Amino acid sequence: MILRLEGLGRRYGDLAALDDVTLRLEPGERRALIGPNGAGKTTLLNLVAGALRPSAGRIHFHDRDVTRTSPARRARLGIGRTHQHPAVWPTLTAQENVLVAARRPWGRLRPGARERLAAVGLADQAGTRAGSLSHGQRRQLELAMALAGEPTLLLLDEPAAGLAPPEVELLAALLADLPPGVAVLLVEHHLDLVYGFADHVTVLHSGRHVHTGTVAETRRSPEVAAAYAGVTP
Ligand SMILES: Nc1ncnc2c1ncn2[C@@H]1O[C@H](COP(=O)(O)OP(=O)(O)OP(=O)(O)O)[C@@H](O)[C@H]1O
Ligand SMILES: [Mg+2]
Repeated sequence: MILRLEGLGRRYGDLAALDDVTLRLEPGERRALIGPNGAGKTTLLNLVAGALRPSAGRIHFHDRDVTRTSPARRARLGIGRTHQHPAVWPTLTAQENVLVAARRPWGRLRPGARERLAAVGLADQAGTRAGSLSHGQRRQLELAMALAGEPTLLLLDEPAAGLAPPEVELLAALLADLPPGVAVLLVEHHLDLVYGFADHVTVLHSGRHVHTGTVAETRRSPEVAAAYAGVTP
């Protein structure tokens, strides 16, 4: 097992943004995490990446308890992520962004930044400042940056948000081409993308786990329909 969340919770005052969530991911698994706005999806990714501290529960990554481990150390252990709002260095070129993202703790740069850019469809933009890239290209760049750390777990927060239909198709192809050993936790509202990508789907609603199942099970789940209708199942 690559990731094990036990009774994970995060409160903001009286609000339980995430409440007693348990989740297990196998190596190489393709898991989608869906649910309506405010369900707690980004909160869960932030807890796994270490950007947020939980109010309750434990996080185990490769059988190591990382609940109190810093985000930088978790990244070095193999947790890569992208953000709901792409986080790139606007004044650096695309290639420099990948090199910065790949910097190892002892300062050595990993090779292959251009290959990483080519792999996400940005071969011709290596020398372009990230601030001049389109929104879709910045999303592709952030994916290349996340992969530069050679993660075994990749957390993707709404990678299709704001993309035009042809860009979503490109993203679907990029996701399908990810190394098979990389486990992915994909937060996404674009359900066609989710159902084409995932092995299993987990549904959150109001901070709580309401369903985990195969794509077929998820499609016919009354809990999922109710969650998306804004009704508490
Ligand atoms: N810093 C914060 N302070 C207070 N409440 C917060 C904070 N961050 C998130 N929340 C609340 O926690 C809940 C879960 O938010 P979260 O961003 O995890 O939802 P989400 O499932 O990612 O939603 P979306 O699909 O809109 O991105 C929401 O009610 C949100 O308003
Ligand atoms: Mg979110």
